[in-house]
Amino acid sequence: MKLNSANINVMIKACRKASKILIRDFGEIEKLQVSIKGPGDFVTAADKKVEKILIDELQKARPSYSILSEEIGEINNDESFRWIIDPIDGTANFLHGIPHFGISVGLEQNKEIVCGIIYDPIKDEMFTAEKGNGAYLNNQRMRVSSRSKLNDCIIFTGGPKHSAKNRDQSLKEYNNFSSKTSIPIRKLGSASLDMAYVAAGRCDGFWQRNLKYWDIAAGIILVKEAGGFVTDFKGESKYIENKTILVTNARINKEMIEVLNS
Ligand code: IPD
Ligand code: CA
Ligand code: CA
Repeated sequence: MKLNSANINVMIKACRKASKILIRDFGEIEKLQVSIKGPGDFVTAADKKVEKILIDELQKARPSYSILSEEIGEINNDESFRWIIDPIDGTANFLHGIPHFGISVGLEQNKEIVCGIIYDPIKDEMFTAEKGNGAYLNNQRMRVSSRSKLNDCIIFTGGPKHSAKNRDQSLKEYNNFSSKTSIPIRKLGSASLDMAYVAAGRCDGFWQRNLKYWDIAAGIILVKEAGGFVTDFKGESKYIENKTILVTNARINKEMIEVLNS
């Protein structure tokens, strides 16, 4: 049976509360799509509202912890514990009325991610993990897939975003994959859910350049606790510094690195 720690329970409670607003606001988006002004400002407001609920709940339960959150930035407090929050990951999907986005909250202890939660409020899928205690989808234990032949796999990626140089590199990697393998590559638009899906064994790997820490913090512990690998494109664990990430099941990591660097 799954036993949640006190911190995971705090995170679940905060996500569930914030998701009520998120679901309600998502219901409004459809109407705004057809308005002349469009849903842009409304989505920004939704992002901020969700973030506020998350932070209020987390602070109520753990007043001494520090926070890094996408919209408000840093709240510096206790140096050993820090929440890492992305209130809506997959904003472009949310904005367009596509039901694929999540709330992502990670917990760092002494700069290492020790707990993570990614919640997809539309599908009511709660992905949780804690160091040493495994990874779960709702209450079911998750494992990464066991596919070992790259050509049998489905791989996710995102971007390209940001500077022209990064864009060129991302396109080169994408084209390499398309020409050297016959793998189906998907871009679903939420990096945190991409990582959660690797952890759940739904897809076999995910790569992306230049993410932000809040995009990947919770996903890192989910994938590790589900038995997967989290590295950069060279196979090293420097992903936290450069936010360029490769996550895979335990069998295709080497081959993915070869293709990405070819
Ligand atoms: C984005 C999503 C997307 C990824 C982008 C992120 P946001 O986060 O995770 O999948 O490709 O790089 O910025 O803006 O929706 O929180
Ligand atoms: Ca994000
Ligand atoms: Ca976001």
